[in-house]
Amino acid sequence: MKRLLIIGIGAGDPDHLTFQAAKAIAAADAFLVVDKGEAKHDLAGLRHDLIAAHGRHPYRVVEARDPERDRDASAYTAAVEDWRSRRARIYESFVTGELADGQTGAILVWGDPGVYDSTLAALEEVEAEFECEVVPGISSVSALTARHRVGLTRVGRPVHITTGRRLAAEGATADDVLVMLDAHCAFAEAGDGYHIYWGAYLGTPDEILVSGPVAEVAEEIRAVRAEARARKGWIMDTYLLRRESPART
Ligand SMILES: C[S@@+](CC[C@H](N)C(=O)[O-])C[C@H]1O[C@@H](n2cnc3c(N)ncnc32)[C@H](O)[C@@H]1O
Repeated sequence: MKRLLIIGIGAGDPDHLTFQAAKAIAAADAFLVVDKGEAKHDLAGLRHDLIAAHGRHPYRVVEARDPERDRDASAYTAAVEDWRSRRARIYESFVTGELADGQTGAILVWGDPGVYDSTLAALEEVEAEFECEVVPGISSVSALTARHRVGLTRVGRPVHITTGRRLAAEGATADDVLVMLDAHCAFAEAGDGYHIYWGAYLGTPDEILVSGPVAEVAEEIRAVRAEARARKGWIMDTYLLRRESPART
């Protein structure tokens, strides 16, 4: 049987890698590294560095280019599903073409494979026989709350995890809202009474942290974000919105 390891590598700091993840990297015969193009080359760079540091020779590195997603499509979900199916074909040819029976392949996933990542869903579409194991990683959520020295959850209270797209469409529907994948600073419309803990490039030398009442820091975040994005060509940021006096019990 072929084996595939889906390894969470943390959110940008090489020291986020867990001992379990390092052992999994050492166990792989071949790695699939999917490159998202020039702008996000640094992200593939971390994967290559971790393989070089923890891989056990002889191993092979197979590179593939991430399929383009139709960002103009009016139906967002359909565009993502189409992209995921094309990703699945890449995984399928890795499993069928690069791994012999008894061999172990690995895919290094940013952050934690269980948090807003399509790898596991795409693997369900792969038509090949293999065993799959998932190694958890430090997510950008954990990195964010640790760097701001705040808890993700307050005592006995829920937290809502969502995307910038949904926050923009629905507004803040809870007292504690963790937002990822926000390209348009949806926090600015969160409403009164929210405090924001914002972080970009968490765990990397470019890390930026800003926190404060949304009404007071929204413009600062917008400006810092636009400048950093223009300078680096890409940005990844995430934030926690927290209502100071919870409305719900
Ligand atoms: C496709 S999701 C991947 C999430 C990842 N699996 C995780 O566990 O963090 C990408 C989003 O994660 C967040 N993110 C990932 N790494 C980050 C980092 N180093 N700093 C800030 N946000 C990050 C951003 O919201 C980004 O848009």
